[in-house]
Amino acid sequence: MDLRAGRFDGQMTDDAAKFSSSIEFDRRLFDADIKCNRAHTTMLMEEGIIPEESAKKILDALDKLETEGIDALDMNPSFEDIHMALEDYITKLIGQEAGFMHTAKSRNDQVCTDVRIALKEEIENTIGAIKDFIRTIVDMAKDNLDTLFIAYTHLQHAQPNTFAHHLMAYANELRRDCERFEDTYKRVDMSPLGSAALTTTGFPINRNRTAELLGFTKVMDNSIDGVSSRDFAAEAIFDYAMLSTTLGKMADEVVIWSSYEFRMVECSNQYSSTSSIMPQKKNPDIAELARGKSTIAYGELMTVLSMIKGIPHSYNRDLQEVSPHLWNAIDNTNEILKIMHGMISTLTINKDRTEYLAGANFATATELADVMVRHKNIPFRTAHKIVGRIVSEAIDEGIGTNDIDDDYVNRISEMVTGSPINLGDELVSQALNPLKNVKSRTVKGGCAPSAVEESIEIMEDYLSE
Ligand code: ARG
Repeated sequence: MDLRAGRFDGQMTDDAAKFSSSIEFDRRLFDADIKCNRAHTTMLMEEGIIPEESAKKILDALDKLETEGIDALDMNPSFEDIHMALEDYITKLIGQEAGFMHTAKSRNDQVCTDVRIALKEEIENTIGAIKDFIRTIVDMAKDNLDTLFIAYTHLQHAQPNTFAHHLMAYANELRRDCERFEDTYKRVDMSPLGSAALTTTGFPINRNRTAELLGFTKVMDNSIDGVSSRDFAAEAIFDYAMLSTTLGKMADEVVIWSSYEFRMVECSNQYSSTSSIMPQKKNPDIAELARGKSTIAYGELMTVLSMIKGIPHSYNRDLQEVSPHLWNAIDNTNEILKIMHGMISTLTINKDRTEYLAGANFATATELADVMVRHKNIPFRTAHKIVGRIVSEAIDEGIGTNDIDDDYVNRISEMVTGSPINLGDELVSQALNPLKNVKSRTVKGGCAPSAVEESIEIMEDYLSE
Protein backbone atom coordinates (compact mmCIF):
# COMPACT_ATOMS: atom_id res chain seq x y z
CA MET A 1 0.00 0.00 0.00
CA ASP A 2 1.83 3.05 -1.18
CA LEU A 3 0.03 6.11 0.14
CA ARG A 4 2.32 8.29 -1.90
CA ALA A 5 1.22 6.82 -5.22
CA GLY A 6 -1.62 9.28 -5.72
CA ARG A 7 0.40 12.39 -5.06
CA PHE A 8 3.93 11.62 -6.16
CA ASP A 9 5.73 9.37 -8.49
CA GLY A 10 8.92 7.86 -7.24
CA GLN A 11 9.84 6.41 -3.88
CA MET A 12 11.59 7.74 -0.79
CA THR A 13 15.19 6.65 -0.57
CA ASP A 14 15.61 3.57 1.61
CA ASP A 15 17.35 5.72 4.19
CA ALA A 16 14.55 8.25 4.26
CA ALA A 17 11.93 5.51 4.55
CA LYS A 18 13.80 3.88 7.41
CA PHE A 19 14.43 7.23 9.07
CA SER A 20 10.76 8.10 9.04
CA SER A 21 9.29 4.73 9.94
CA SER A 22 7.89 4.09 13.40
CA ILE A 23 7.09 0.49 12.62
CA GLU A 24 9.52 -1.06 15.10
CA PHE A 25 8.23 0.72 18.18
CA ASP A 26 4.67 0.61 16.86
CA ARG A 27 4.70 -3.12 17.63
CA ARG A 28 3.27 -2.41 21.00
CA LEU A 29 0.34 -0.60 19.39
CA PHE A 30 -0.78 -3.76 17.57
CA ASP A 31 -3.70 -4.63 19.87
CA ALA A 32 -4.72 -1.02 20.26
CA ASP A 33 -4.67 -0.45 16.51
CA ILE A 34 -7.00 -3.38 15.90
CA LYS A 35 -9.36 -2.10 18.61
CA CYS A 36 -9.27 1.41 17.19
CA ASN A 37 -10.05 0.27 13.64
CA ARG A 38 -12.76 -2.05 14.90
CA ALA A 39 -14.48 0.67 16.92
CA HIS A 40 -14.25 3.17 14.10
CA THR A 41 -15.57 0.73 11.48
CA THR A 42 -18.42 -0.37 13.77
CA MET A 43 -19.43 3.23 14.34
CA LEU A 44 -19.26 4.04 10.60
CA MET A 45 -21.51 1.06 9.93
CA GLU A 46 -23.97 1.89 12.72
CA GLU A 47 -24.26 5.46 11.52
CA GLY A 48 -24.85 4.29 7.94
CA ILE A 49 -21.72 6.07 6.71
CA ILE A 50 -20.22 3.01 5.02
CA PRO A 51 -21.91 -0.06 3.47
CA GLU A 52 -22.76 -2.71 6.02
CA GLU A 53 -21.43 -5.48 3.77
CA SER A 54 -18.01 -3.85 3.51
CA ALA A 55 -17.92 -3.04 7.23
CA LYS A 56 -18.59 -6.69 8.09
CA LYS A 57 -15.78 -7.84 5.84
CA ILE A 58 -13.44 -5.36 7.47
CA LEU A 59 -14.48 -6.46 10.96
CA ASP A 60 -13.99 -10.14 10.06
CA ALA A 61 -10.56 -9.34 8.67
CA LEU A 62 -9.66 -7.50 11.90
CA ASP A 63 -10.77 -10.54 13.91
CA LYS A 64 -8.64 -12.78 11.75
CA LEU A 65 -5.64 -10.52 12.22
CA GLU A 66 -6.19 -10.50 15.96
CA THR A 67 -6.17 -14.30 16.04
CA GLU A 68 -3.11 -14.56 13.84
CA GLY A 69 -1.14 -11.99 15.80
CA ILE A 70 1.41 -9.42 14.79
CA ASP A 71 3.49 -11.88 12.79
CA ALA A 72 0.76 -11.89 10.17
CA LEU A 73 1.63 -8.27 9.37
CA ASP A 74 4.30 -7.31 6.90
CA MET A 75 6.35 -5.12 9.26
CA ASN A 76 8.53 -3.83 6.48
CA PRO A 77 10.18 -0.50 7.35
CA SER A 78 9.07 0.78 3.96
CA PHE A 79 5.70 1.08 5.68
CA GLU A 80 5.63 4.29 7.60
CA ASP A 81 3.91 2.74 10.54
CA ILE A 82 1.73 -0.05 11.89
CA HIS A 83 -1.40 1.68 10.63
CA MET A 84 -0.11 1.23 7.07
CA ALA A 85 0.95 -2.36 7.72
CA LEU A 86 -2.51 -3.14 9.08
CA GLU A 87 -4.19 -1.45 6.13
CA ASP A 88 -1.99 -3.47 3.80
CA TYR A 89 -3.08 -6.70 5.54
CA ILE A 90 -6.79 -5.91 5.33
CA THR A 91 -6.49 -4.78 1.71
CA LYS A 92 -4.67 -7.97 0.70
CA LEU A 93 -7.43 -9.96 2.40
CA ILE A 94 -10.59 -8.24 1.18
CA GLY A 95 -9.46 -5.94 -1.61
CA GLN A 96 -10.30 -2.30 -2.17
CA GLU A 97 -13.31 -2.34 0.18
CA ALA A 98 -10.74 -2.12 2.96
CA GLY A 99 -10.51 1.53 2.05
CA PHE A 100 -13.91 2.21 3.67
CA MET A 101 -12.24 1.73 7.04
CA HIS A 102 -10.37 4.99 6.52
CA THR A 103 -13.40 7.16 5.99
CA ALA A 104 -13.26 10.06 8.45
CA LYS A 105 -10.12 8.77 10.14
CA SER A 106 -6.54 9.94 9.89
CA ARG A 107 -3.44 8.32 11.23
CA ASN A 108 -3.09 11.53 13.25
CA ASP A 109 -6.07 10.74 15.46
CA GLN A 110 -5.48 7.03 15.18
CA VAL A 111 -1.96 7.06 16.56
CA CYS A 112 -2.76 9.12 19.63
CA THR A 113 -5.85 7.02 20.27
CA ASP A 114 -3.70 3.89 20.10
CA VAL A 115 -1.05 5.34 22.40
CA ARG A 116 -3.72 6.30 24.93
CA ILE A 117 -5.27 2.81 24.81
CA ALA A 118 -1.89 1.14 25.29
CA LEU A 119 -0.83 3.57 27.99
CA LYS A 120 -4.02 3.04 29.98
CA GLU A 121 -3.22 -0.65 30.11
CA GLU A 122 0.37 0.04 31.13
CA ILE A 123 -0.77 2.34 33.93
CA GLU A 124 -3.28 -0.23 35.18
CA ASN A 125 -0.55 -2.87 35.27
CA THR A 126 1.89 -0.58 37.03
CA ILE A 127 -0.70 0.37 39.64
CA GLY A 128 -1.32 -3.34 40.24
CA ALA A 129 2.40 -4.04 40.58
CA ILE A 130 2.93 -1.13 42.99
CA LYS A 131 0.03 -2.31 45.13
CA ASP A 132 1.46 -5.84 45.21
CA PHE A 133 4.75 -4.41 46.38
CA ILE A 134 3.00 -2.36 49.06
CA ARG A 135 1.24 -5.53 50.25
CA THR A 136 4.59 -7.26 50.64
CA ILE A 137 5.98 -4.29 52.54
CA VAL A 138 2.95 -4.19 54.83
CA ASP A 139 3.39 -7.90 55.63
CA MET A 140 7.05 -7.29 56.43
CA ALA A 141 6.08 -4.34 58.63
CA LYS A 142 3.62 -6.51 60.56
CA ASP A 143 6.46 -8.93 61.33
CA ASN A 144 8.75 -6.15 62.49
CA LEU A 145 6.64 -3.89 64.68
CA ASP A 146 9.10 -4.29 67.58
CA THR A 147 12.26 -4.71 65.55
CA LEU A 148 14.56 -1.91 66.63
CA PHE A 149 16.20 0.08 63.90
CA ILE A 150 18.10 3.31 63.74
CA ALA A 151 16.87 6.38 61.88
CA TYR A 152 19.18 8.89 60.28
CA THR A 153 19.21 12.54 59.40
CA HIS A 154 22.18 13.77 57.36
CA LEU A 155 23.07 10.06 57.28
CA GLN A 156 24.12 10.49 60.90
CA HIS A 157 22.73 8.43 63.71
CA ALA A 158 19.57 10.24 64.84
CA GLN A 159 16.91 8.40 66.85
CA PRO A 160 15.80 4.84 67.55
CA ASN A 161 13.14 3.60 65.19
CA THR A 162 11.51 0.34 64.24
CA PHE A 163 12.08 -1.47 60.98
CA ALA A 164 8.29 -1.51 60.54
CA HIS A 165 8.13 2.26 60.70
CA HIS A 166 10.84 2.64 58.08
CA LEU A 167 9.10 0.10 55.85
CA MET A 168 5.83 1.97 56.17
CA ALA A 169 7.60 5.11 54.94
CA TYR A 170 8.30 3.16 51.75
CA ALA A 171 4.68 2.03 51.62
CA ASN A 172 3.40 5.59 51.91
CA GLU A 173 5.75 6.87 49.24
CA LEU A 174 4.65 4.09 46.92
CA ARG A 175 1.04 4.83 47.70
CA ARG A 176 1.51 8.41 46.50
CA ASP A 177 3.23 7.11 43.37
CA CYS A 178 0.19 4.94 42.83
CA GLU A 179 -2.23 7.80 43.40
CA ARG A 180 -0.27 9.91 40.94
CA PHE A 181 -0.86 7.24 38.30
CA GLU A 182 -4.53 7.06 39.25
CA ASP A 183 -4.80 10.79 38.70
CA THR A 184 -2.85 10.80 35.43
CA TYR A 185 -5.06 7.99 34.20
CA LYS A 186 -8.00 10.40 34.05
CA ARG A 187 -6.16 12.56 31.54
CA VAL A 188 -5.04 9.59 29.47
CA ASP A 189 -8.56 8.21 29.46
CA MET A 190 -9.94 10.67 26.85
CA SER A 191 -10.66 9.82 23.24
CA PRO A 192 -9.14 11.92 20.45
CA LEU A 193 -10.66 9.58 17.83
CA GLY A 194 -12.79 11.47 15.34
CA SER A 195 -10.46 14.46 15.37
CA ALA A 196 -9.39 13.00 12.01
CA ALA A 197 -6.44 14.90 10.57
CA LEU A 198 -7.08 17.96 12.73
CA THR A 199 -10.51 19.59 12.24
CA THR A 200 -12.74 16.49 12.38
CA THR A 201 -14.78 15.63 9.30
CA GLY A 202 -17.92 16.44 7.37
CA PHE A 203 -19.17 12.88 7.88
CA PRO A 204 -21.76 12.57 10.66
CA ILE A 205 -19.53 10.40 12.86
CA ASN A 206 -20.45 9.55 16.43
CA ARG A 207 -17.44 10.22 18.61
CA ASN A 208 -19.22 9.24 21.81
CA ARG A 209 -19.86 5.82 20.34
CA THR A 210 -16.22 5.13 19.41
CA ALA A 211 -15.15 6.38 22.85
CA GLU A 212 -17.66 4.02 24.43
CA LEU A 213 -16.54 1.08 22.28
CA LEU A 214 -12.94 1.74 23.23
CA GLY A 215 -13.66 2.15 26.93
CA PHE A 216 -12.74 5.83 27.11
CA THR A 217 -14.53 7.83 29.78
CA LYS A 218 -14.49 11.10 27.85
CA VAL A 219 -14.30 12.47 24.33
CA MET A 220 -11.72 15.21 23.80
CA ASP A 221 -13.51 18.50 23.28
CA ASN A 222 -11.25 20.01 20.66
CA SER A 223 -9.92 18.18 17.62
CA ILE A 224 -6.80 20.32 17.26
CA ASP A 225 -5.97 19.54 20.87
CA GLY A 226 -6.93 15.93 20.20
CA VAL A 227 -4.24 15.30 17.59
CA SER A 228 -1.56 17.64 18.93
CA SER A 229 -1.37 17.01 22.63
CA ARG A 230 1.09 14.67 24.23
CA ASP A 231 1.02 16.20 27.70
CA PHE A 232 -0.61 12.96 28.84
CA ALA A 233 2.55 11.11 27.81
CA ALA A 234 4.88 13.59 29.50
CA GLU A 235 2.78 13.40 32.66
CA ALA A 236 2.87 9.62 32.65
CA ILE A 237 6.63 9.66 32.17
CA PHE A 238 6.90 12.02 35.14
CA ASP A 239 4.94 9.49 37.20
CA TYR A 240 7.33 6.75 36.12
CA ALA A 241 10.28 9.02 36.87
CA MET A 242 8.90 9.73 40.34
CA LEU A 243 8.30 6.04 40.98
CA SER A 244 11.88 5.44 39.86
CA THR A 245 12.99 7.97 42.44
CA THR A 246 11.14 6.16 45.21
CA LEU A 247 12.64 2.85 44.14
CA GLY A 248 16.11 4.30 43.60
CA LYS A 249 16.08 5.77 47.09
CA MET A 250 15.16 2.40 48.58
CA ALA A 251 17.89 0.75 46.55
CA ASP A 252 20.39 3.30 47.82
CA GLU A 253 19.50 2.47 51.43
CA VAL A 254 19.96 -1.23 50.79
CA VAL A 255 23.43 -0.52 49.41
CA ILE A 256 24.35 1.51 52.49
CA TRP A 257 22.72 -0.76 55.06
CA SER A 258 24.32 -3.88 53.65
CA SER A 259 27.87 -2.50 53.86
CA TYR A 260 30.16 -4.01 56.51
CA GLU A 261 30.22 -0.70 58.38
CA PHE A 262 26.44 -0.64 58.73
CA ARG A 263 25.70 -4.41 58.63
CA MET A 264 21.99 -3.76 59.19
CA VAL A 265 20.65 -5.92 56.40
CA GLU A 266 21.88 -8.62 54.10
CA CYS A 267 20.69 -9.11 50.54
CA SER A 268 19.69 -12.59 49.53
CA ASN A 269 22.28 -14.39 47.42
CA GLN A 270 19.72 -14.36 44.63
CA TYR A 271 20.10 -10.60 44.41
CA SER A 272 23.84 -10.34 45.04
CA SER A 273 27.01 -10.86 43.15
CA THR A 274 30.68 -11.33 43.94
CA SER A 275 33.98 -9.96 42.74
CA SER A 276 36.12 -11.56 40.06
CA ILE A 277 39.25 -10.86 42.10
CA MET A 278 38.23 -10.39 45.77
CA PRO A 279 36.94 -13.77 46.90
CA GLN A 280 35.31 -12.43 50.07
CA LYS A 281 33.03 -9.96 48.33
CA LYS A 282 29.26 -9.95 48.40
CA ASN A 283 28.05 -7.01 46.36
CA PRO A 284 24.52 -5.62 46.25
CA ASP A 285 24.65 -5.29 42.45
CA ILE A 286 20.92 -5.48 41.93
CA ALA A 287 20.30 -2.60 44.32
CA GLU A 288 23.08 -0.59 42.70
CA LEU A 289 21.68 -1.20 39.23
CA ALA A 290 18.19 -0.34 40.39
CA ARG A 291 19.62 2.93 41.69
CA GLY A 292 21.50 3.51 38.43
CA LYS A 293 18.67 2.58 36.13
CA SER A 294 16.26 4.77 38.07
CA THR A 295 17.71 7.74 36.19
CA ILE A 296 16.64 6.50 32.76
CA ALA A 297 13.09 7.77 33.12
CA TYR A 298 14.42 11.26 33.99
CA GLY A 299 16.20 11.39 30.65
CA GLU A 300 13.07 10.26 28.83
CA LEU A 301 11.06 12.95 30.60
CA MET A 302 13.48 15.68 29.51
CA THR A 303 13.53 14.32 25.97
CA VAL A 304 9.76 14.31 25.66
CA LEU A 305 9.31 17.71 27.29
CA SER A 306 11.85 19.15 24.87
CA MET A 307 10.14 17.45 21.94
CA ILE A 308 6.68 18.80 22.66
CA LYS A 309 7.87 22.28 23.51
CA GLY A 310 7.62 24.94 20.84
CA ILE A 311 6.05 22.97 18.03
CA PRO A 312 3.03 24.58 16.40
CA HIS A 313 -0.44 23.08 16.47
CA SER A 314 -1.56 20.61 15.35
CA TYR A 315 0.00 17.29 14.34
CA ASN A 316 3.71 17.43 13.65
CA ARG A 317 5.75 14.43 12.75
CA ASP A 318 8.01 15.16 15.71
CA LEU A 319 5.27 13.65 17.85
CA GLN A 320 6.07 10.22 16.48
CA GLU A 321 9.30 10.34 18.46
CA VAL A 322 7.47 10.71 21.79
CA SER A 323 6.27 7.12 21.87
CA PRO A 324 9.57 5.20 22.05
CA HIS A 325 10.65 7.36 24.97
CA LEU A 326 7.37 6.79 26.72
CA TRP A 327 7.68 3.02 26.31
CA ASN A 328 11.29 3.05 27.42
CA ALA A 329 10.48 4.96 30.61
CA ILE A 330 7.69 2.49 31.33
CA ASP A 331 9.71 -0.65 30.61
CA ASN A 332 12.68 0.46 32.64
CA THR A 333 10.67 1.51 35.64
CA ASN A 334 8.58 -1.65 35.59
CA GLU A 335 11.75 -3.68 35.53
CA ILE A 336 13.13 -1.82 38.54
CA LEU A 337 9.82 -2.19 40.36
CA LYS A 338 9.79 -5.93 39.84
CA ILE A 339 13.39 -6.47 40.87
CA MET A 340 13.08 -4.22 43.93
CA HIS A 341 9.99 -6.11 45.03
CA GLY A 342 11.96 -9.35 44.88
CA MET A 343 15.03 -7.92 46.53
CA ILE A 344 13.30 -6.12 49.41
CA SER A 345 11.10 -9.12 50.18
CA THR A 346 14.16 -11.37 50.54
CA LEU A 347 16.27 -9.03 52.68
CA THR A 348 17.47 -10.39 55.99
CA ILE A 349 17.58 -7.94 58.81
CA ASN A 350 20.43 -8.27 61.29
CA LYS A 351 18.42 -7.67 64.44
CA ASP A 352 21.32 -7.87 66.88
CA ARG A 353 23.06 -5.16 64.99
CA THR A 354 20.05 -2.89 64.52
CA GLU A 355 19.14 -3.24 68.20
CA TYR A 356 22.67 -2.32 69.18
CA LEU A 357 22.69 0.68 66.81
CA ALA A 358 19.34 1.89 68.11
CA GLY A 359 20.80 2.30 71.58
CA ALA A 360 24.31 3.37 70.63
CA ASN A 361 25.90 6.76 70.15
CA PHE A 362 23.41 8.64 72.35
CA ALA A 363 20.59 8.12 69.83
CA THR A 364 18.16 8.32 72.74
CA ALA A 365 19.33 11.77 73.88
CA THR A 366 16.22 13.58 72.62
CA GLU A 367 14.04 11.50 74.92
CA LEU A 368 16.24 12.33 77.93
CA ALA A 369 15.68 16.03 77.23
CA ASP A 370 11.96 15.39 76.75
CA VAL A 371 11.78 13.62 80.13
CA MET A 372 13.29 16.68 81.81
CA VAL A 373 10.60 18.86 80.25
CA ARG A 374 7.81 16.41 81.06
CA HIS A 375 8.77 15.62 84.67
CA LYS A 376 10.60 18.72 85.84
CA ASN A 377 8.84 21.34 83.81
CA ILE A 378 11.97 22.98 82.50
CA PRO A 379 12.00 24.63 79.05
CA PHE A 380 13.07 22.35 76.20
CA ARG A 381 15.94 24.65 75.21
CA THR A 382 17.44 24.32 78.71
CA ALA A 383 16.99 20.56 78.64
CA HIS A 384 18.59 20.46 75.17
CA LYS A 385 21.60 22.35 76.54
CA ILE A 386 22.01 20.03 79.54
CA VAL A 387 21.74 16.86 77.46
CA GLY A 388 24.07 18.26 74.79
CA ARG A 389 26.61 18.83 77.55
CA ILE A 390 26.04 15.33 78.97
CA VAL A 391 26.82 13.86 75.55
CA SER A 392 29.95 15.95 74.99
CA GLU A 393 31.28 15.15 78.50
CA ALA A 394 30.50 11.46 78.04
CA ILE A 395 32.33 11.41 74.71
CA ASP A 396 35.33 13.15 76.31
CA GLU A 397 35.33 10.70 79.20
CA GLY A 398 34.89 7.76 76.84
CA ILE A 399 31.69 6.50 78.46
CA GLY A 400 28.56 5.20 76.72
CA THR A 401 24.83 5.70 77.02
CA ASN A 402 24.46 2.91 79.59
CA ASP A 403 26.88 4.57 82.00
CA ILE A 404 24.73 7.67 82.34
CA ASP A 405 22.72 7.66 85.56
CA ASP A 406 20.94 10.15 87.77
CA ASP A 407 24.17 11.30 89.47
CA TYR A 408 25.77 11.95 86.12
CA VAL A 409 22.77 13.96 84.91
CA ASN A 410 22.74 15.99 88.12
CA ARG A 411 26.45 16.73 87.95
CA ILE A 412 26.16 18.12 84.42
CA SER A 413 22.93 19.93 85.19
CA GLU A 414 24.66 21.73 88.04
CA MET A 415 27.45 22.72 85.66
CA VAL A 416 24.98 24.12 83.15
CA THR A 417 22.20 25.59 85.29
CA GLY A 418 23.61 25.70 88.79
CA SER A 419 21.16 23.11 90.17
CA PRO A 420 20.52 19.35 89.90
CA ILE A 421 17.43 17.94 88.17
CA ASN A 422 16.87 14.82 90.27
CA LEU A 423 15.09 12.69 87.71
CA GLY A 424 16.04 9.52 89.55
CA ASP A 425 17.80 6.49 88.05
CA GLU A 426 14.58 4.90 86.84
CA LEU A 427 13.50 7.82 84.65
CA VAL A 428 17.03 8.29 83.31
CA SER A 429 17.42 4.67 82.32
CA GLN A 430 13.94 4.51 80.80
CA ALA A 431 14.61 7.63 78.76
CA LEU A 432 17.83 6.16 77.45
CA ASN A 433 16.28 2.78 76.59
CA PRO A 434 15.72 2.54 72.81
CA LEU A 435 12.71 0.23 72.98
CA LYS A 436 10.99 2.48 75.54
CA ASN A 437 11.86 5.40 73.27
CA VAL A 438 10.08 3.99 70.25
CA LYS A 439 7.16 2.75 72.34
CA SER A 440 6.60 6.26 73.67
CA ARG A 441 6.11 7.69 70.18
CA THR A 442 2.44 6.79 69.97
CA VAL A 443 1.46 10.01 68.19
CA LYS A 444 -0.21 9.55 64.82
CA GLY A 445 2.50 8.81 62.27
CA GLY A 446 4.90 7.78 65.03
CA CYS A 447 7.15 4.76 65.34
CA ALA A 448 5.43 3.12 68.35
CA PRO A 449 4.09 -0.30 67.37
CA SER A 450 0.56 0.91 68.09
CA ALA A 451 0.97 3.92 65.78
CA VAL A 452 2.52 1.80 63.04
CA GLU A 453 -0.36 -0.67 63.36
CA GLU A 454 -2.73 2.22 62.79
CA SER A 455 -0.83 3.29 59.70
CA ILE A 456 -0.90 -0.31 58.46
CA GLU A 457 -4.68 -0.31 58.81
CA ILE A 458 -4.94 2.89 56.81
CA MET A 459 -2.76 1.37 54.12
CA GLU A 460 -4.78 -1.83 54.06
CA ASP A 461 -7.95 0.21 53.60
CA TYR A 462 -6.34 1.91 50.62
CA LEU A 463 -5.24 -1.40 49.16
CA SER A 464 -8.69 -2.90 49.43
CA GLU A 465 -10.48 0.13 47.93
N1 ARG B 1 3.56 7.15 12.51
C1 ARG B 1 2.92 8.36 12.85
C2 ARG B 1 3.12 8.66 14.34
O1 ARG B 1 3.47 7.80 15.08
C3 ARG B 1 1.45 8.27 12.59
C4 ARG B 1 0.86 9.52 12.06
C5 ARG B 1 1.46 9.87 10.79
N2 ARG B 1 0.81 10.96 10.20
C6 ARG B 1 1.28 11.53 9.09
N3 ARG B 1 0.61 12.51 8.64
N4 ARG B 1 2.36 11.11 8.53
O2 ARG B 1 2.96 9.78 14.76
